[in-house]
Amino acid sequence: MSLQGTLTGSTSGHVDSEVPKLGKEAALKAIEEWGQPISNITHLIFCTASCLDMPGADFQLVKLLGLDPSVNRFMIYQQGCFAGGTALRLAKDVAENNPGARVLVVCCEITTSLFQAPTESHVDVLVGQALFSDGASALIVGANPDPKINECQVYEIMSTRETIVPYSEHGVVGHLREMGFEYYLSPDVPKLVGANIEELLEKGFSEIDGINKDWNSLFYSIHPGGPAILDKVEERLGLNEGKLRATRHVLREYGNMGAPSVLFILDEMRKKSMEEGKATTGEGLEWGVLIGIGPGLTVETVVLRSVPIATAN
Ligand SMILES: CC(C)(COP(=O)(O)OP(=O)(O)OC[C@H]1O[C@@H](n2cnc3c(N)ncnc32)[C@H](O)[C@@H]1OP(=O)(O)O)[C@@H](O)C(=O)NCCC(=O)NCCS
Repeated sequence: MSLQGTLTGSTSGHVDSEVPKLGKEAALKAIEEWGQPISNITHLIFCTASCLDMPGADFQLVKLLGLDPSVNRFMIYQQGCFAGGTALRLAKDVAENNPGARVLVVCCEITTSLFQAPTESHVDVLVGQALFSDGASALIVGANPDPKINECQVYEIMSTRETIVPYSEHGVVGHLREMGFEYYLSPDVPKLVGANIEELLEKGFSEIDGINKDWNSLFYSIHPGGPAILDKVEERLGLNEGKLRATRHVLREYGNMGAPSVLFILDEMRKKSMEEGKATTGEGLEWGVLIGIGPGLTVETVVLRSVPIATAN
């Protein structure tokens, strides 16, 4: 799996046309770092909750990038903030079941359509407007990297699992109404995530020897929904200070971009690991986890393995 491109967006046209354009910027960076001809891309997964066009953002991106018109397209619409994990889950399945597949994954959000006037009776809209932001991430997923063409890995996706958190339906809710898109964020979200995070990790790592609930032995990309969510995760897992450094860095610098956020965090982590001379792309550690959190509440748990830095570049 390789890379991402980051871009916090400015929008000059309609959101329907700007989403694929912002996605294209991220895709070009990922393809450049991958270093292979664009014609080697066999599948495209596009993920957004920012527009609902027909034909979709995936179709527009094929045209913008000049991809093969017969590339196999998947569109993940309106899943919200957990969908960066969903895109990885789908990409892993596709890559493992189609020999030679190279899957371009693009997650892009432009949150203009979420804007609502402030109202004292709907404080959570202010919370959302303070936290939500725009961004796009892209990466290439494939099985069996080809050393003959210097194809290299950045992380390995070991397992994926999607779960609905019990009694949390009210947590994050969105409705597409006549007047536009309305959303509700419950103040309970941090508490709900905190109450379930350990069980989610236990299930994710149940088949991996040597972790034994030593949660400080992992590296983390946690959806940066808001600082209160990260505080609860740290508290419930007993994480040492600095364990969520990459996650907090992305929240501070870019905000909550929805689906692209967890991929920004992986990119931040591998770059910092290289800068600091760490042994692996995961802050020198072998095992890590990506947690996507969004409406449902739905949580995507993606177990990752880092790679030695010498082979990552
Ligand atoms: C919003 C947030 C950044 C504020 O953090 P903070 O400044 O440390 O303050 P607190 O968490 O103590 O909240 C301050 C007040 O805002 C209220 N508040 C927090 N979240 C709220 C929400 N979603 N809706 C309504 N009120 C909310 C709190 O109840 C509190 O009210 P009070 O002062 O009357 O007790 C933090 O609560 C947070 O990270 N929330 C998670 C946001 C979320 O759900 N994201 C998911 C998107 S995928």
